[in-house]
This record gives sequence, structure tokens and C-alpha cells, in this order.
Amino acid sequence: MRRVLTAAVGLALVNLAPAVPAAQAADPCAAWMDPHDSASHRADELVAAMTEDQALGMLTFSDPPWFAFYGTAGHVDGIPEICVPDLVLSDAGSGVAGLQVATTVFPSGVAQASTWDPALQRRLGRAIGEEAHAKGINVLLGPGMNIARTPYNGRNFEYFGEDPLLSARGATAFIRGIQDNPVLASAKHYAFNDQETDRMTVDVRVDERTRREIYLPPFEAAVRQADVGSVMCSYNRVGGAYACENRRLLTGYLRHDWGFDGFVVSDWGATHSTAPAATAGMDLEMHASPLPQQYFSADNLRAALADGTLTWARVRAMVHDVVRPMFEHGLFDHPVEPGPAPYLDDVSTAHAALARRVAAAGTVLLKNRGGLLPFDGEGGRTIAVIGWAANPVGASSATSGGGSSHGSGVARQVSPLEGITAAARSHGDRVVYVEGSSTVDAQAAAAAADEVVVVATDGSSEGSDRPDLGLRPAACATVFCTSIPGNQEAMVAAASAANPRTVVVLDVGGPVRMPWLPDAGAVLVPWYGGLQHGNALADVLYGDAEPGGRLPQTFPASEAQASFEQRAYPGVDGRETYDEGLLVGYRGYDARGDRPLFPFGYGLGYTTFDFRDLAVRRTGAGADVSFRVRNTGDRAGAAVPQVYVSFPASAGEPPKRLEGFEKVRLAPDASRRVTVHLGRRAFAYWHRGWTVDPGRYGIAVGSSSRDLPLRTYVVLGG
Ligand code: BGC
Repeated sequence: MRRVLTAAVGLALVNLAPAVPAAQAADPCAAWMDPHDSASHRADELVAAMTEDQALGMLTFSDPPWFAFYGTAGHVDGIPEICVPDLVLSDAGSGVAGLQVATTVFPSGVAQASTWDPALQRRLGRAIGEEAHAKGINVLLGPGMNIARTPYNGRNFEYFGEDPLLSARGATAFIRGIQDNPVLASAKHYAFNDQETDRMTVDVRVDERTRREIYLPPFEAAVRQADVGSVMCSYNRVGGAYACENRRLLTGYLRHDWGFDGFVVSDWGATHSTAPAATAGMDLEMHASPLPQQYFSADNLRAALADGTLTWARVRAMVHDVVRPMFEHGLFDHPVEPGPAPYLDDVSTAHAALARRVAAAGTVLLKNRGGLLPFDGEGGRTIAVIGWAANPVGASSATSGGGSSHGSGVARQVSPLEGITAAARSHGDRVVYVEGSSTVDAQAAAAAADEVVVVATDGSSEGSDRPDLGLRPAACATVFCTSIPGNQEAMVAAASAANPRTVVVLDVGGPVRMPWLPDAGAVLVPWYGGLQHGNALADVLYGDAEPGGRLPQTFPASEAQASFEQRAYPGVDGRETYDEGLLVGYRGYDARGDRPLFPFGYGLGYTTFDFRDLAVRRTGAGADVSFRVRNTGDRAGAAVPQVYVSFPASAGEPPKRLEGFEKVRLAPDASRRVTVHLGRRAFAYWHRGWTVDPGRYGIAVGSSSRDLPLRTYVVLGG
């Protein structure tokens, strides 16, 4: 019954044409293998035909459970007699990770979000989905869409920044891209899993309005707009109950309010019970190492059925949740064939150019004194490349954050040193390299060079939070680690002070402090740029690509600006209260009147834009906001006009909210009229439902949350 997957990359991009010819009468699977039938009906038929053992086996992981199954995060055995394919799950957000070989490591989530380009994010998701399917994987454990509540969260690099709308747009694009293939995405980590300190246990308290307005919208959009196949419940507790046995989360919001009809998979080891988890709305248990109790084993489920805490109706519904999205997204009709051959296949070759493009598009230019960048290309210069993170060994830590999302593939990684050296050669320039562990070396190399590129990194990783906003070196996984510069801030400061033509490159997972900023000539933030980081960086330095990124997260001017009362972060006695409520990210900076180092939405690019002629027109329950964007510089480039809405005082909202944006590419001197549609929700706040107060709503348009030259208002309701 199962089709052998004969081709790798490319085949997966759907055409979900039937792999199985019209069913024969004698075919035991005939009732659910007609690809023209609806997914729900096929799932009904299959679940009704399953034996008890077959049904129970669909709800937990199979052996071998942990990376021993072709390097994946886990799997559920298929049932060939009834045409159920294997379910093979793998990380995810910056490429097919885990112990996979020869896959593409793309820039991490925060870099993807920095592109402000959902169309590009969809292409990226599609490419990752193609690679997954070619590797015998049909569930990708991503994207991560937790909100960057604090810059200290060690996993922010996997997520899409501090704003619910920007995160939702990125998440839905990425999910659609993955699910353009017969591969399911998994929206994670649901929910309020916004720190790594005490990540397995912390009990988060968040008021209802803040939940609905700040933290849930990306998940809501993943369900309602992108039809995500699965959602991963997180490790933490919410209001006392673990997320994976939290009825409000798993049944209330998810299924009742948003209509989710896929499966809830536990994060690895996030299950804490059998009947309470199953009845709260969890469907599929996966595990973390070391092997814990298997709560959804057939024996445990049968015991719960026997003592009446679980019903067969619920078990059948759980299996239905698992198989329905599998039918809908083509997993039955294009089953994966995990095995040694796909495991060893190189599936990355088609995607290097895309990885390079996304890396440049997500690189944020924060400072560019006197148009230092791009290099003018005349040749004959000496370029000093400084920093451990620039060399191939250092870059293996600095191009992908730590933990389960960390991509492998060091063999094909292009470090900054390699990328810049190749580009310099073709431009007739010469590169000298020093590691920068001694500030004397860094200073001397910088002083002697025409141009300086100093590369520094931090250590963002799953499993721990960042202790401060410093440039801490990444976790050390190789024998070469002794050469990590102990004090990268001193290295950057020494180079910047020695040569005003110093470009500081920050391969970081989140905002860092910049005591050296006044001396630096230029500052680029590529975040974790993936395997093509070095080439993309060279493209940006030489102007072959523009740094297309805008900040998805505010850079604080000081630790004090970013700090919380301990009860709000990281919590006291295992409990944490989101006291700041709606005042997350720029919402908080605006409300407090704080001036950040660099505001949300900011980024320079290589050209300049003018925004003018703002007009607003009421349309139904919303409004169309239109304005003209002109490229006023002498290079082609992309603007990212951002539309913010301010509310009447009665609504009690923060000073403004991002409600729309667009990436607009323009040739020099070209202009375009842009229209951004704002739906009802752009004017709504949560008060027992989405509520729009009558009144006057401010509309502001500009190039960052703190540069909004166009302003008008619209009157709604009443
Ligand atoms: C992480 C998840 C990941 C899973 C499987 C967990 O520890 O929190 O993000 O998908 O492991 O690798």
C-alpha cells in the first residue's frame, strides 16, 4: 500500500495527487484512502475501523524513542495493514535539525522575523518542509512563536520577536510554507513559555487580557489562518496547571475558541499524567531524555479506561485529532519512508542560495557613520577580520543558537572569515585575521588596516537564560574553546577605538549592550545567520545585497531598562506573575517614556525613503491606510513602512500597537502608493471578547516605532 518515495528535494512540493489508485473493493483501506474524500470523513472511517490496540498505539512515541530513529526527535510507528504511515517528528525552525546530516541550516527565527517579509518566510518554510520530507520526516517541531517578553530569554533567537502581529505574520507564513509539503508544522511552545529559567516547572500567572492580546495571537493565527496541523504544549505551568494538562489552554482557547482540529503533542517530557492530560486536551505524548514514565502507554491508558477517568470516546477523539491533519495535509497519500538511504541523503544543495538571501534580508544595519558601508569596491585595501566568532570553529557556535534547534552541517558552513576572504579576493582586497583574544592584537590589527570587521557572539541557548546583556561566548563544544576571547566587549572596544572604519558584527540571539557604540563606525546584527552567514555578510559588506532587516525586538539602553521585579522575572518560589501586563517590548518603552538604544522596527538599509500623502478610508469594520513611499537614495532597496494604531483612552491600551506593515522594494527615485488594510481586530481590545470602543483612533506611519512622520486619525463607532 505504501508508496516508495523515489525523489528527494522538489518532489515534495505538493501536488497532493493520489499516490494510491482508486481503491479496490478488496482493499482493506478503501474506506479512508480515497484522496478526493474529505479529511474528516477519512479520519472517521479509519478511527472506526481501528482495533483498540491500534488506536492506543497512536497516542505515544514508539521505540527507539530518542534520536536513535534516524536522528529524529521521535516517531510513532505506522500500521501498514491499515495504511497508516509512520509519523516522524523532527526539529525544525531554522532547518531540519536534531542529528540530521546534510540539511540546510537557515538563519534562526529572530533573523527570519527581522526580514519583515512573510512571502520570503513562506519560501523558507517550504524549503525546510521539502528537506524534511526527503529525509523521511513528516512533522516539523516548529515554528517557535513565544513572545520576547524579556531580552534575557535564552530561546528568543528561535522566536519572532516582541510583537504579536509581527510574530503571527511570520508564524503563519512559515507554517503555510512547511505545509505546502505533505509535512505538518507544530506551533510551539504553547503557551507562556517565555523563559528558560525553571523552564520545566515555573508557574506563570498572566491576566486574561494580556493572554489574548500579547501571547496568544501567534498561536491563534497559526490555527485560524494557517491551519497548523499540530500544536506543542510546553513544559511550564499556567495558573497552577501544567500546560500539557491545562484544559483552558488545550480545549478552551485552542479548540473551543479557535476551532483547532489537529493534535496537541507534548513537548519532550512535558506530560505529567495520563487521564488529566488526555481529558484536558492533549493527544500525543513525546518524551525527553532520560526516559521518563510513559504516561500514554497502552497499559496506562487502559488503566485509566478501566477506572473510569478516561473514556473510549475521548481516546477515539484523540486518535482522530492525530490522523485528521495527516489526511488533510497529504501524509497518508505521500507517506515517508524513513531509513538509512534518506537519512544519508544530501538534501541541502538546492537551498544554499535561499539561505544566503534570507541571511542578508534579516541582517539589521544599526549604525553606518558617514556611509562607511558598503565598501566602495575600488580594491587594493587591507581588511582586518577580528574575532573568534569569525573563524570556522567559532562560527560553528555563532551561526545557530544552542539546543534542539541547533542545525548541524558544519562541513558546509561558510564562516565570516571564509566569506569575506572570498569576496575580498574578487574585489582585489586582502584579508588579515586575528582572533582577538588579546586586545593588543585586536587593536594593532585594526590600526594597521583600511577596513575592520570585528565579529562577536553571545551564548543564547535552550536550557538557560542569558545572565545579562553582555557578549558572553557561546557554550563550548570543541577542544578549540580555550581560544574563545574572554572579553569580546574589550575586543570590540579596542578595534573600534583604533580605527573609525570598524564594522561591528553581532552574531547574537538577542539585544546586547554596546558601551563601544560611539567609537564604532558601523554595526550589523545578522543574529544567528545559518550556514551561509559568511557569504551573506560579505554580500552586505560589499553591497551585493542590502542589509534588509528591521528589529523585531527593542534594544535596551541599559540593564535597568530591561529589568523586572523578581516576582515578574524570573519568579519567586517557582511562581512568576506577568505584572507588566500589556506593556511588553515597545509598548512598555512607550508607556514609560523610556528611550531605548535602538527601537522596535528600526534598521537602516543602504538607501533612504520618504513617506508622504497619508490617507485613511473606513472600510466595513476596519480601515484602509494608504501612503506613498519613495526611494530618495541612489541605490535600490526595500522600505518597511509600519502602521501603528493608538486607541481612545477608554480602551486602556498601551500608547500604540503595530497593526500592519509591508516590505516595499523600490529602484532609486521610484515611488509607490501602498495600502495597508486594517481589519476590525486592529481596533479591538479584549474585554470578555474583542471589543471596539467608539472614538478616535490615531494612525501613525513610519520606518520604526520611534520614527513616525505621518499621522492622522479615524473615528469609529458611536
Ligand atoms: C524542546 C522542543 C523540541 C523538543 C524535541 C524540547 O526539549 O523544548 O522545542 O522540539 O525538545 O527536540
